[in-house]
Amino acid sequence: MLDQPMPTPSAPTLDQNALARALSGHHFIGGRFVPAQSGRSFAVHNPATGAEIARAAEGDAADVDAAVVNAAAAQKDWAKLPARKRGALVSQCAALIGTHAEELARLIALETGKALRTESRVEANVVADIFSFFGGLGSELKGESVPFAPDVLSVTVREPLGVVGAIIPWNVPMLLMALKIAPALVAGNTVVVKSAEEAPLAVLRVCELMNRILPPGCFNMLSGFGPECGAPLVAHPKVRKVTFTGSVEVGRIVAVAAAEKLIPVTLELGGKSPMLVFADCDFEKTVMGAITSMRFTRQGQSCTAASRIYVERPIFDRFVAALAEKVNAMVMGDPLDEKTDIGTIISEGQFEKVKSFIAEGAATPGAKALVCSALPTDPALKKGLFLQPHIFTGLTRESRLVREEIFGPVTCVFPFDDAEAVLAEANDSEYGLAASLWTNNLKRGLDLAHRLEAGLVQINQNLVVQANLSYGGVKSSGLGKEASLEAMQEHFTHKKTIMVNYG
Ligand code: NAI
Ligand code: MG
Repeated sequence: MLDQPMPTPSAPTLDQNALARALSGHHFIGGRFVPAQSGRSFAVHNPATGAEIARAAEGDAADVDAAVVNAAAAQKDWAKLPARKRGALVSQCAALIGTHAEELARLIALETGKALRTESRVEANVVADIFSFFGGLGSELKGESVPFAPDVLSVTVREPLGVVGAIIPWNVPMLLMALKIAPALVAGNTVVVKSAEEAPLAVLRVCELMNRILPPGCFNMLSGFGPECGAPLVAHPKVRKVTFTGSVEVGRIVAVAAAEKLIPVTLELGGKSPMLVFADCDFEKTVMGAITSMRFTRQGQSCTAASRIYVERPIFDRFVAALAEKVNAMVMGDPLDEKTDIGTIISEGQFEKVKSFIAEGAATPGAKALVCSALPTDPALKKGLFLQPHIFTGLTRESRLVREEIFGPVTCVFPFDDAEAVLAEANDSEYGLAASLWTNNLKRGLDLAHRLEAGLVQINQNLVVQANLSYGGVKSSGLGKEASLEAMQEHFTHKKTIMVNYG
């Protein structure tokens, strides 16, 4: 039972500004809202207006220690619960998150600038689905019996790792958190999450909701900056596993710190995902597929965004024109307005970064950008981080726009003539997260799917990550898998062998 009244409403609320203020200035440790021990906090902004909507507790090593100590204390009893009981509790969290889905959607739209109708509502519902999926998998934490020798019973059992440290980014913060904590908890671990500095609010509300069902300390949430709060979480001696989503640069730092402690690490580090369009594709479906694949409704702020599109030459011009026409019709505006298709970029830093890529593309001789979608005219949004989608043609393969992750509404389209050559080009990347192929020749599609260097290849569709889909990259896109049964078994437990000699 909680011994303090929560500052937040217990019933779902649609007043996202009031909820943001109520969550302001808190970590969530051991079942309670607490401020940073240092007393410091930092501003959280609405990227559509520039207004400060809340403060976030500025965590450091002292807060990390308090959260990890709480998680470690809770872990022993949590792990003693039968796995199916843990799963049932996580399923109850799914139901409660579902009840609060509209509230969470509005809050995430407020703090990230992602459009409510096209993005934020989808995220909130997928979060409930991920909890529900993993909640049903408690009985899958089973081991094997091994035919070792006569009179020897040899079995394996799966045991939790202990306290899991999870570090998440801002683009789909609730969803990426769910992918980490739902399997970790069902497997008998307890968790400390470090939220992204740009989006600490909706995840904090999810945490408080879960705390109504799970024992205190099972799940703890810290806000703060990477080096001051994320790094001490990875380094803490009681953290026995780290799971991270974010940039390659920070992923490497996290992996090195985990290696120092010899603890396992899961990394999801983004991509430069190719989309291959053949002339025999279903044209209209594929044009719409390019919009989905590029995640234009999320301003391209997605690790699986199809930021390199290769189109077979006979349909190249028609395809680029049709794509630009469709993107142009998308409505950019207030993320909380039901009419809005495209909201804002997350932060000024990302805004400037994406603009620098656009400037470099625009300055490239021979390159051309189709600039789509009108900027909003509402004076209330004049400080908003709105950025028009850019479709580049005529870039060289060596361009930074073609090689680096932009994480913005910018895609590069190239014509191709030969399937083998385009396959080589698609694979010529540091990344290997996702890829899609669009063709009605499934023989060719499947052949190429097997030879594309990516963790997830889709033919004639390009869905975002979902429950039950093994998800994770090769090459610099990361290590390990998320979202699937395998992810829970392989990344949140270890196998112990027990042998009994009864001869
Ligand atoms: P980032 O990798 O710096 O941040 C991700 C998380 O790591 C945040 O919670 C951050 O506080 C934390 N962090 C930062 N430094 C840390 C450290 N030394 N130790 C532990 N934790 C640390 O990503 P950022 O700056 O938000 O975005 C930069 C680029 O990264 C984007 O433009 C995009 O290309 C990529 N990115 C990829 C994502 C993905 O889904 N794979 C998500 C977000 C960003
Ligand atoms: Mg960073």
